[in-house]
Amino acid sequence: MSATKDFYLSTPIYYVNDAPHIGHAYTTVAGDVLTRWHRQKGEGVWFLTGTDEHGQKVMNTAEKNGSTPQAWCDRLVEEEWKPNWHHLNIANDDFIRTTEERHMVRVQNFLQGLKDQGFIYSAKYEGPYCIGCEEFKLPGDLVNNACPVHSIPVEMVSEENWFFKLSAFVPQLIERYRNHPETCEPASARNEVLSFLEGGVTDLSISRSTFDWGIPVPWDTKQVIYVWFDALLNYATAVGLGDDPDSEGGKKFAKTWPADVHLVGKDILRFHAVIWPAMLMAAGIDVPKKIFAHGWLLVGGEKMSKSKLTGIAPRDITDHFGVDAFRYYFLRAIPFGTDGSFSWEDMGARYTSELANDFGNLASRLTAMIEKYCGGLIPAPTQSSTLAPTLAATVTAADAAICALDFQGGINSIMEFCKRVNGYVTENEPWAIAKDDSRKAELEDVLYNTAESLRALAVLLHPIMPETSEKLWFSLGADISIGEISAQRISDVANWGQLPEGSAVTKGAVLFPRLEEK
Ligand code: MSP
Repeated sequence: MSATKDFYLSTPIYYVNDAPHIGHAYTTVAGDVLTRWHRQKGEGVWFLTGTDEHGQKVMNTAEKNGSTPQAWCDRLVEEEWKPNWHHLNIANDDFIRTTEERHMVRVQNFLQGLKDQGFIYSAKYEGPYCIGCEEFKLPGDLVNNACPVHSIPVEMVSEENWFFKLSAFVPQLIERYRNHPETCEPASARNEVLSFLEGGVTDLSISRSTFDWGIPVPWDTKQVIYVWFDALLNYATAVGLGDDPDSEGGKKFAKTWPADVHLVGKDILRFHAVIWPAMLMAAGIDVPKKIFAHGWLLVGGEKMSKSKLTGIAPRDITDHFGVDAFRYYFLRAIPFGTDGSFSWEDMGARYTSELANDFGNLASRLTAMIEKYCGGLIPAPTQSSTLAPTLAATVTAADAAICALDFQGGINSIMEFCKRVNGYVTENEPWAIAKDDSRKAELEDVLYNTAESLRALAVLLHPIMPETSEKLWFSLGADISIGEISAQRISDVANWGQLPEGSAVTKGAVLFPRLEEK
């Protein structure tokens, strides 16, 4: 690993059997916030997302819609998935599709390598398969012969397939999770994986012969590679897996691999914490540094899903609350790693109290007062303020929490500071001081301290709410007097006195407009 390795984060690649819902957006927004935070720390970052296009689930959906699988995937990716991420202001560096040549060639090479090293053998597979999960099930996993997640009957599979010697890696995996707990988080996820591993793991069928929508097994082209084996490899194929070290792909791989974090939902934890590292161990490649499993967004106590008709499209929410409030709400309201229910009422309440009142009003009061009392120009910097040590503690706490994927803790620290600044304004009553000409210096100090706190809030909230923070940055005149908001470093945020005297403030648009009655 070179000293300049990028911070590499991935989301799962999403099945393109349907359009995205807010469960998918939850993972992707979390990844976007974390990578934007790391960029704001000045680190090199690589953020990957994409789509999982092979397998029976996508093939069956395409057929039902009278389309070929490829045409179906092309349409959904271009008309639904990519526009949705663009709408949510997701700044991914790459988007991988498993039907791309770059992926398929590298998957075949990887599998051939495992075969050559003796990790692949032929055997008969017999057992239940859930097309919704695209997973071989054990009879004990089922409820009334159906998958408990999808509530659909399983299919019985009986095929001559290729198998991967997964069981050979169980001792190494157990050792890893026992001795390096940070590699699988939170603790509940790690414990689940450990008990699964300790319960005994069998070898894995990694090919299918009864349909053809997949990557052909290179030495047996009548079979296609099992969709999960194909999909998991995306994290490495997207950055040049197996390429010559001197080639562009090889250099990219050296700069990014091993991945720092694979973000996944808890339903796909085992694939990522058992099968994926075992595949890499077999190939002699470093395993990812961390798998983090978040909880589900629930509707009526069950995992929200399109197949159960409980899916909510991100636009249903952003049309009403805006994109930044959407990005903020789920990470603020639900501890990452725990299930949480979405409710319009809770979102409306937080929008009004935290975003419109605590944050938006503070910004509009300040800019209005600077216009009224200081001719629209930032007054002279103060040397320090009672707010400065609170800000320093906020930055330290928020940075530690967000880097540990405790988004709720990080956002709480930032919003607590926002509340403190509101309290400071209320206690100091600048509107009352302004009535007394002899207290002009005092008035200017209060307004400067408030403006400077908003400067810090804009930077700290930029990874979470990029558009609103930029609006605030512009209205403080900071784009001209300090520079681009994205160039501001987390480590410098607490340095007091950055807004220069005379920076021209404008009363911008309201950051969080009052909600229209529904
Ligand atoms: N294609 C596989 C992943 C392959 S990664 C190598 C897949 N796709 S998925 O589209 O079904 O789900 C992708 C992610 O969305 C998963 O992490 C899943 O947990 C997440 N979510 C889907 N519904 C969700 C909720 N209701 N709540 C939170 N996340 C959910 O699995």
